[in-house]
Amino acid sequence: MFTFEANKIAGAVLGSLLLAMGLGVIGQMIFSHSHLKTPGYALPVPVETAAHEGGEAPAAAAPLPERLAKSDPAKGQGLTKACQACHSFEKGGAAKAGPPLFGVVDRAKGSIAGFGYSDGMKAKGGEWTFDDLDHFIASPKTFVAGTKMSFAGEPDPQKRADIINYLHTLSDSPVPLPAK
Ligand code: HEC
Repeated sequence: MFTFEANKIAGAVLGSLLLAMGLGVIGQMIFSHSHLKTPGYALPVPVETAAHEGGEAPAAAAPLPERLAKSDPAKGQGLTKACQACHSFEKGGAAKAGPPLFGVVDRAKGSIAGFGYSDGMKAKGGEWTFDDLDHFIASPKTFVAGTKMSFAGEPDPQKRADIINYLHTLSDSPVPLPAK
């Protein structure tokens, strides 16, 4: 009889303990999620660029006229610090390791009298158009095989546009920038 009572008591205690635990677990299940400030986790937001819309390769540079339209000749002048070791930019400037660059836009390639141009430059022909300057400054040795200009090139398309805009101001009557 005694053990039966004791079992009943023990059972009741155990039962209420289990009930308390169970309620606690259920309570946590119900309420813990409401503490989250932002549900789920952040998904990376796709970056939309203009280049993708046209179906072009993302690395492709904008056309030169577009880059020139938003270029800054003052920035370009700053960027020619890298060129000044070899080039003069002022009117009547002398040749250094490279030919003087005043008036270079629309000037015939390799045309400074007395300057020892490379055979590649002499053979290139034509004038320095905006486009040709863009290609040459991007990678001199790609544009003129065997060039004497030992300059690695300016890889940034917008910086090249700044430089070319500056070069185009170095003239008594600057050629207009190409229209869009
Ligand atoms: C290490 C010296 C050196 C540096 C730096 C250099 N150049 Fe030159 N540049 C030359 C030489 C040498 C030539 C002649 C190349 C040839 O004959 O192949 C030349 C030729 C040129 C020409 C053709 C000129 C003509 O009369 O046909 C242009 C344009 C030019 N450089 C622009 C630049 C610009 C812009 C920079 C800077 C971003 C630059 N160069 C940096 C040495 C240099």
